[in-house]
Amino acid sequence: MRRAAAAGSGTGDLRVLGIETSCDETAASVVLRRPDGVGEALSNVVRSQWEEHRPFGGVVPEIAARAHVECLDGIIAKALTDASLSLSDLDAVAVTAGPGLIGGLLVGVTTAQTLALVHGLALIAVNHLEAHALTVGLTEGLKPPYVLLLVSGGHTQILVVEDVGRYRRLGSTIDDALGEAFDKTAKLLGLGFPGGPAVERAASSGREGRFSLPRPMQGRPEPNFSFAGLKTAVRHQAQALVPLHEQDIADLCADFQAAVADAVADRIARALAIASETLEPGKGRHLVVAGGVAANKRLRDRLKAAAQTAGYTLHVPPPALCTDNAAMVAWAGAERLARGLSDDPLTVTARARWPLDPDALPVLGSGRQGAKA
Ligand code: KG4
Ligand code: ZN
Repeated sequence: MRRAAAAGSGTGDLRVLGIETSCDETAASVVLRRPDGVGEALSNVVRSQWEEHRPFGGVVPEIAARAHVECLDGIIAKALTDASLSLSDLDAVAVTAGPGLIGGLLVGVTTAQTLALVHGLALIAVNHLEAHALTVGLTEGLKPPYVLLLVSGGHTQILVVEDVGRYRRLGSTIDDALGEAFDKTAKLLGLGFPGGPAVERAASSGREGRFSLPRPMQGRPEPNFSFAGLKTAVRHQAQALVPLHEQDIADLCADFQAAVADAVADRIARALAIASETLEPGKGRHLVVAGGVAANKRLRDRLKAAAQTAGYTLHVPPPALCTDNAAMVAWAGAERLARGLSDDPLTVTARARWPLDPDALPVLGSGRQGAKA
C-alpha cells in the first residue's frame, strides 16, 4: 500500500471503476464519490454464472475463471457506457484482489493492472470482505463505527467496523459458511442451485414446528457459528421420511430457516453485548447485515428484533448490493483513495486468503482459515 499522489488525496469528485471476479459473478461498476463523502453508483453491471455451474450443483473454479476471461472486457465496457464515461474520465480502478477463487481473482487483477498502467490510473487492491463491509456507506451514508454481520456463500463472520481499514473480528464460523449450509441443504432436498432462494421459496409453503432441529452454539460465550450439525440433522430427518413429498420438503425448509434464524440471532445478541462494552456510549449502535444470505426475510426479521432488544438499528443494503457486485468494490476503492491510499500496479497480487482482521486468532475447531473464517 502506498500513499496516492494528487488524484487520490485530492478534495474533488472521485470516479472509480470497480471490478469483481472473486467467485461466480463477473461485475463492473463506476461509482462517484463526492468530497463530502456521499457516493452514487453511476452503473452496476453483474453477470452471474449460475447457468454454467448449475449442472455441477456448485461453483467449479476452472469454469468460473474461464467465464470471467470471456466476458470481463464487455462487462467493463458496458459499465462505462451506462455511466456515460470513458476510461480517461476516471481517477482509479479498484479490483477485488482477495479473498476468493485464485483463477478468477487473477483475471480481475491482471485486467485492472493493465488498465491502470495503460491509462495512468491509480490502482486499489480491494479486500472483498471490506467491500461488503463498507457498502452501507454508499447506500445510506452510514459511516463507521458499526457492527457487521457478513453472511454469504463463502463467509460468515461478525466484525466491528472501527474505521475504513480497521476491523475487529468478534466471531466466525467453525465449519460451513451460512450460505453454504443453505446450498447444501437445498442440494440434499433436491432443490435448485443456488440453494438459499430455493429453500426460502419452499419454506414459504411449509409449517414451522414439525421437526426438532438443533440451534448450534446457542448460549456459548464466544459469538462463533457452526452449521454443519444443523445440516446433518436435516439430512437425518429427511432420510427418515424417504420418499419425500413436497409438503415434507417445505416443512423441513421452514424448520431449517427457523433454526438458522434462532441460532444467528442468539450469536448476534452475544456479539452486540460484547461490542457495546468497547464502543463509545451512544456511538456505533448499528447492526449492518451484508452478503447474499441477508436477502432471507425470515432471518432479517429475527435480526431486526435482536438488534432492537440490544439497542441497535438494523441496516441491510438492497439485495442487488448485498450479493456480489462491483459497486461495493468501486466504493471501497473510492473510500481508500479519498484517504490517500492506493497500490502499486506492478506489485499487486491476488490473494486466495486475506483476513480483514489479521490479529484475529484461528477459531477453535475451524478447518479452514481465510476465505471462510
Ligand atoms: O454474497 P453472495 O452473492 O456470494 C458469495 O458467496 O460471496 O452470497 C451467495 C449466497 C449463496 O450461498 C446463496 O444460497 C445465499 O447467498 N442466498 C440466500 C438467499 N439468497 C442468496 N440464502 C438464504 N436465503 C436467501 N433468500
Ligand atoms: Zn461476497
